[in-house]
Amino acid sequence: MLSKSKICVILGSLLAIIGVLFLLYKSDDISVYVQGHRINKFTKHAGHYIMSSVEKESDDGSFSVILKWKPGILEQELKISPVLKDLRATFKVDANNECEFKITDLQDSRFQLPENEPFPFTKQRQGTKDKESNLFETEISQVGQKFYFELRRKQTQEIIFSTRNHPIYFTDKYLEISTNLDESMIFGLGDRRTDFIIKSGKYSFWTSDAVKIDDGTPGNQLYGFHPMYLRRDIKSNQFHVTLFRNAYGHQVDYKQHSHLTYKCIGGNIDFKFFIGDSNPETSIKLYHNYINGWVLHPFWVQGFHQCRWGYKNSDQLMDVWNSYNKYNIPLDSLWTDIDYMYKYQDFTIDFEKFNLQQMQQIYNLSDPNGVHWSSIVDVGIALESDAAYRGIDMNVFIQSGRTNKTFIGKVWPGETYFPDFNHPNSTDYWYEGLKNLTSFGLQQDGIWIDMNEFDSFVSGEIIPNQTIMDKILDYLAIAPPSLPFNPLGMEQIDHKTLSLSAKHYSGENALLVNATNNYTITQYDVHNLNGFGEGLATYRAAKRLGRKLTFILSRSTMFGSGRYVQHWNGDADSTWEYMRYSIPAIMNFNMYGIPFNGDDICGLFQDVTAELCARWQQLGSLYPFSRNHNGDNSISQEPYAFPDSPYVLSSTIKTLNIRYQLLKFYYHLFVKANGAGTIFRPLFWQYPADNQAYQQDMQFMIGDYLMAAPVMEQGDESQQVTYSCFYVPQNAVFYDFYNQTQIKSGKYCQNISFDAVVPLYIRAGKIVHIQDKTTVLRSRFLDNTFTLMVALNEDSFAEGSILTINDYNDDNNIITNCQESGNCVANILAKGQFKSTNIFELTLQVESESNNTNYQTIYVDKLIVSGISQNGEIYSKTIYLDQKPFVIDRDNITYQLEIQL
Ligand code: NOJ
Repeated sequence: MLSKSKICVILGSLLAIIGVLFLLYKSDDISVYVQGHRINKFTKHAGHYIMSSVEKESDDGSFSVILKWKPGILEQELKISPVLKDLRATFKVDANNECEFKITDLQDSRFQLPENEPFPFTKQRQGTKDKESNLFETEISQVGQKFYFELRRKQTQEIIFSTRNHPIYFTDKYLEISTNLDESMIFGLGDRRTDFIIKSGKYSFWTSDAVKIDDGTPGNQLYGFHPMYLRRDIKSNQFHVTLFRNAYGHQVDYKQHSHLTYKCIGGNIDFKFFIGDSNPETSIKLYHNYINGWVLHPFWVQGFHQCRWGYKNSDQLMDVWNSYNKYNIPLDSLWTDIDYMYKYQDFTIDFEKFNLQQMQQIYNLSDPNGVHWSSIVDVGIALESDAAYRGIDMNVFIQSGRTNKTFIGKVWPGETYFPDFNHPNSTDYWYEGLKNLTSFGLQQDGIWIDMNEFDSFVSGEIIPNQTIMDKILDYLAIAPPSLPFNPLGMEQIDHKTLSLSAKHYSGENALLVNATNNYTITQYDVHNLNGFGEGLATYRAAKRLGRKLTFILSRSTMFGSGRYVQHWNGDADSTWEYMRYSIPAIMNFNMYGIPFNGDDICGLFQDVTAELCARWQQLGSLYPFSRNHNGDNSISQEPYAFPDSPYVLSSTIKTLNIRYQLLKFYYHLFVKANGAGTIFRPLFWQYPADNQAYQQDMQFMIGDYLMAAPVMEQGDESQQVTYSCFYVPQNAVFYDFYNQTQIKSGKYCQNISFDAVVPLYIRAGKIVHIQDKTTVLRSRFLDNTFTLMVALNEDSFAEGSILTINDYNDDNNIITNCQESGNCVANILAKGQFKSTNIFELTLQVESESNNTNYQTIYVDKLIVSGISQNGEIYSKTIYLDQKPFVIDRDNITYQLEIQL
């Protein structure tokens, strides 16, 4: 029994604790942490900005104006984040379809992203700028009135951006601005796992390691930072892109058909607008041009990849490699995850477990079975490792704002430091680390940069020799003490990442961002740049190591990252739901300017079922980046790992053979796009006027040539079939890739066996080049001979293009012939007509894409012609041209043949 006095002491203590908690709660600091945000206290009675004067107006429609804060009568001062009372709002016309709107302090002194490389910046565009030719017009309030800004498309009067009837707040650490939205659909606002059409909700922007699905609840965002959206104005059916050019953490509150509100913890109000037309690709291309375009990967990367976290030694790698060879499964790269490192330390190999000779055998590309080595590098550097000593010597690590010593977090190897990619020495440091790996006689062809949000297993930091009391105080201080608003809602902002106070290099010659006026750059300012910085350092290192075309797979990305890295969608659960979300995610990253993207085929976490794995292999065979990747605690999921369900293996082989038939075609789309535009697209991209097409985010287009309708649902296990439906848009005509049957607009349903290839259709009017005569297991053994699949439209016409190079394996060949001194794309046109009742004449014509097209000889020795239409009947014909191949080696070649029906 407790004595009375003890009970009194306990009750007293409890009351004291509650009292302290209450006081903390009432203070702004702790309420941020407990409640999410306290900004409401301020906004409830806050005033507004008055349009004070017009400073400048230019002929092209640009202007700048001065704003002054008029406090509300009952306004409560936001002590931790005072209002900036004097502001400048600038509207700038960059081209007739591109403009920007920015609000800054009068000196423009706040920390922001530079307007130059490596960051996205406005390029000089040709053509004169005058108000008349602008596709847009603006309206602002009168002097003395409450300030608003409106941007409209001239022709349709649709609203692109309008702050009318919404408040604007600009305090030191809290900015808020909204735009009205008429009837709209918006896409983008990444990185998150969600449907392609964004639903109303609250969306956080803060790079984080997560496996979540985002239903519009703050804190559910993923690894990347892409604060852009593509908007479709439903009434006018026009598209534009809006980029919030601010790298600070923020939240976007979105209400469909109503408004969109940005709530941001720093920087400036800074928007870029890209005014497209009724084709979504137009505004996306403008956006890609602004974000510096995207980088081309080497050809082999287009092949199939096998990976697993948990290939614990080279014997296991050998087993996988041998099985792939034994079962004739196409493969171009076998990956190693963190297991290959010595104690998970970067730039090392654990030679006790990973036998160098075995590795050299697997990765020997002179051996016909050899494959490329792709492997992981984590961003956290283990304390007391060689890389740590070197980093300390070079002074390249992030510093703690608390201890003023090197910042310590925790990742796979235990306690770690983190490179500061803003430090001038960091490029050399990173290069030398990666070079160290090559000194073992192995070439790391694919570099996988992981955990670079930066992810840490502790929230905040590890402070050596901390007392319990320090820890408690520390815990309270973790709540961002000076933030009036938490863009992650209830989720702690430094959850599993570095303290906001961690310090970055802030001196001259900084690699990414310079700080002026003795400002110390902290994680708070640059958290969302972490993955971008590592991507850039890795790209520079790879170039220095002699890679011509690079393949760097980065988990964390930012707008502009696509210029340096590729991406995969990160950790997926092995569930149907996660498989489904992979499609919108890849379409999104195409919009974000990182089109070479894929998902972990068969999923990373949890055990996959045979049926799901087979379906995922089918779908994944058409991902731009196609890699089966597994977690370390799950059952094996290589295609041959399901002996009781042999269809997994057989359907994977079939479907990957189709991938390899299409490999050069798929790659040609990347080369041809020349660093801007999308490849893996939603159906509506091609059919923007068809409202139903918008609802189909489980089907996708590859370029404007192919439509895939993979099976995305669980089927009937006993029959091993799934009843699966797909939609063909209005006025569309397609031909089945496998049997050339014509399909026209409507809904199609069929039973598809577990052991199937991925359902695929060619768009009428298109020519797709494939290589279907021999099966190869490595991309480097594909030859220069093609089959043309000619899908004629109702005018008996079709068009396509092809690369006129004969060696895709030599990066230099691609760079010289396709990128530097011209291009290597030739267009092929096909036109048919009946000569007599049963003779159809087909004329093929080669035209170079531009007057500096380079030609190396390629051959066409087979045609599959579909859509030959006569008296309401549709015919298809396969014609072998072995005797007289169609040789493409120069311009203006015509090839004619008669097809006997
Ligand atoms: C997290 C990555 O997302 C995953 O793909 C990888 O396997 C693990 N880290 C282990 O490196």
